[in-house]
Amino acid sequence: MKKCVLVSGGAGFIGSHVTVELIEAGYDVIVADNLSNCDLTCFEGVKKITGRDDLAFHKVDFCDASATDELFSSNRIDAVIHFAGFKAVGESVSEPLKYYRNNLTSFINVIEACRRRGCSNILFSSSATVYGEPDSVPVTEQSPRKPATSSYGNTKQMCEDILRDSVQAYSEIRGIALRYFNPIGAHPSALIGELPRGVPNNLVPFITQTAIGKRECLSVFGNDYPTPDGTCQRDFIDIVDLAKAHVFAVRRMLEGKMKNEYEIFNVGTGKPLSVMELITRFEAANGLKLNYKFAPRREGDVVAIWADPSLANAELGWKAERDIDDTLAAAWAWEKHLAE
Ligand code: WQD
Repeated sequence: MKKCVLVSGGAGFIGSHVTVELIEAGYDVIVADNLSNCDLTCFEGVKKITGRDDLAFHKVDFCDASATDELFSSNRIDAVIHFAGFKAVGESVSEPLKYYRNNLTSFINVIEACRRRGCSNILFSSSATVYGEPDSVPVTEQSPRKPATSSYGNTKQMCEDILRDSVQAYSEIRGIALRYFNPIGAHPSALIGELPRGVPNNLVPFITQTAIGKRECLSVFGNDYPTPDGTCQRDFIDIVDLAKAHVFAVRRMLEGKMKNEYEIFNVGTGKPLSVMELITRFEAANGLKLNYKFAPRREGDVVAIWADPSLANAELGWKAERDIDDTLAAAWAWEKHLAE
């Protein structure tokens, strides 16, 4: 019998790409989302890409404990991947309680429902933000976590701890936290991608919106950092590559291959790229010129961070494969698709 994976936050940017990869790998998927920060555009795209017209959408708010439990009691769920959560770093600083209530409550409800309904496998979507400003790069999973600089980042650290402690206390569950670096791009079909509401905070959506004329000019935040070209360095990871890492992690759990009951993996390419390098690659990959200017540093930005992904490479058998130029072409194709 096919194993069934629940994807909470499955209508969002990462959740929709993960749903596609799970279906293509032969899993049954239950897509659930409260649509608080997205609509059904990507869910419809998932159905088209996979040819699964019958794929059901479950409108569930995971902050509602009884609705969460009901989802688990009425479906046979073998594993859950938990994405549901708020993710705007700036907003989390001005509205911390909104972030703590939502991101912690929903995860606690999911873990409790797993325990009650016999689902043993929990995968949490964590972030490189837990490393803060690292003492050295690349960062490994052993690199220290630094005090979070936003409530958003704090919820990622706290949810990791909630999962770790739950796994330790309750022998029936096991967990994996995947720490994502900077996910960018879109599915090569251009049917699903990132749909930021309002002015994008993240670099690549701002680039594509500037290129298409929705924004006048990209501000490059800081060109006086102690890096080769003065701009920040990041580990930009293709969204499809990132989605595939989830399939490997879920399989590891379901097949009983975990070496510890709680495991953490970096999900990155291991290759740093600066903001200016990314802009130049975007222009070259898509044959266009971007309107940009240098602007003051953005508060809270880390100077340089990239992953040592060797643990994920060795243990999950997963590796980032897509070429950055293809990734940036896919991001641009998605932006153009939205404008059609
Ligand atoms: C990347 C670089 C900016 C916009 C954040 C979160 C992290 C995560 C991903 C979210 C930085 C520069 C950006 C712009 C710019 N999770 N930049 N002009 O800050 O590395 O990570 O998003 O769900 O937790 O912290 O990503 O894309 O915002 O910025 O110059 O208009 O691009 O200063 O150096 P970041 P980002």
